[in-house]
Amino acid sequence: MSKLITFEVQPGGKLAGQTRVPGDKSMSHRSIMLGSIAEGVTHVKGFLQAEDALATLQAFRDMGVVIEGPENGEVTIHGVGKHGLKAPTKPLYLGNSGTSMRLLSGLLAGQAFDTVLTGDKSLSGRPMKRVTAPLAQMGAEIATTESGTAPLHIKGKAGNLKGIEYVMPIASAQVKSCLLLAGMYAQGQTTTIEPAPTRDHTERMLAGFGYPIKQDGNKATISAEGKLTATEIDVPSDISSAAFFLVGASIAAGSDVTLKHVGINPTRTGVIDILRLMGANIEVLNPRVVGGEPVADLHVTASQLKGIDIPEELVPLAIDEFPVLFVAAACAIGQTRLSGAKELRVKESDRIQVMADGLQILGVDAQPTEDGMLINGTPIGSGSVESHGDHRIAMAFSIAGLRASGPITIHDCENVNTSFPEFKDLATQLGLQLASREE
Ligand code: S3P
Repeated sequence: MSKLITFEVQPGGKLAGQTRVPGDKSMSHRSIMLGSIAEGVTHVKGFLQAEDALATLQAFRDMGVVIEGPENGEVTIHGVGKHGLKAPTKPLYLGNSGTSMRLLSGLLAGQAFDTVLTGDKSLSGRPMKRVTAPLAQMGAEIATTESGTAPLHIKGKAGNLKGIEYVMPIASAQVKSCLLLAGMYAQGQTTTIEPAPTRDHTERMLAGFGYPIKQDGNKATISAEGKLTATEIDVPSDISSAAFFLVGASIAAGSDVTLKHVGINPTRTGVIDILRLMGANIEVLNPRVVGGEPVADLHVTASQLKGIDIPEELVPLAIDEFPVLFVAAACAIGQTRLSGAKELRVKESDRIQVMADGLQILGVDAQPTEDGMLINGTPIGSGSVESHGDHRIAMAFSIAGLRASGPITIHDCENVNTSFPEFKDLATQLGLQLASREE
């Protein structure tokens, strides 16, 4: 059993300086998946060397792909082509990573071999029907537990998947990407229609590999006609990791932080929009396009935030940032209202309940609702909170320390390593008084 990590954050301080947070998690996963089934050698820079992306990397090694690195964020993938993956000799273990499991289920449904996908306790409790149901409509055969969770037993149906037009009931980039990957192995066309825009890294990266994909508003269409040609990928910093410092610098008086080379794809920038609506000072500097993805440096200084009603259309564009946005809301004057965010209940933890519980322990007036939260700005106290093994909850409560009246102890922080292993080091360099201990 691996060691439990506890974070302890001392109250007060500010964040100041310049930093570059690690590579984007979503793009890192996709770089391995598409690089592996491309023809030729793909070089990736800025790859996220954290447990989730490494789980995807290991899964493709287990399917016979030669992958060098990662070393300093550089990975070299010797692509085997669309039909070159080999049967793994054991179940593919995907740790905590929902993205790995949901995207791989689509990619593996149309292979010439069977696979089994497993994960840790959190991943094994997360809903997989959202992918296995539409995949079944395509002719896939995937067995789940009775409650629709992993392990997934996937029968390879090479040549026997058929394209569908799928009107997605939820706004989910994982579901969309899963079906597009399956569509690369299906007869005819596969079209996804999303209810609201979600991150489009799969579509952009497919285009970068030269694979035909049609996009028309909320529709994306793909077919088996095409091949991926190896390419160079430069992964920008993850805005979802940058978000902790965007909030930290906003709430702590005297803060002044620049975050370099952050991905600002418009399907990911909801956190900037929401913070600006709350009165944050965030400047987007040197905007540029790197490898088909918009990138910029973000400069943020402290400001007095005010409570807002979060516009529902921004929810999917900030879906991973709500734990830390709830901390921003606790520090704002007045009430912040979130609704239309039921998806937060099925992330790495139930992020509505877990954040409400922790904020209440710290004395914050936070009321969970079925699909969101009501938070009245309240001084943050001191206490001991549970992250429930959820990386973003652990980091969000660390940031709360900047405005707390006493120390905050955060339990079960080992999964910070799934997305942001450098968090403690970068946060302390910027000024957060954060210590961790192993138990
Ligand atoms: C992701 C999509 C989102 C997000 C997750 C990463 C992706 O999940 O929460 O962290 O890389 O496609 P959903 O598709 O479930 O919204």
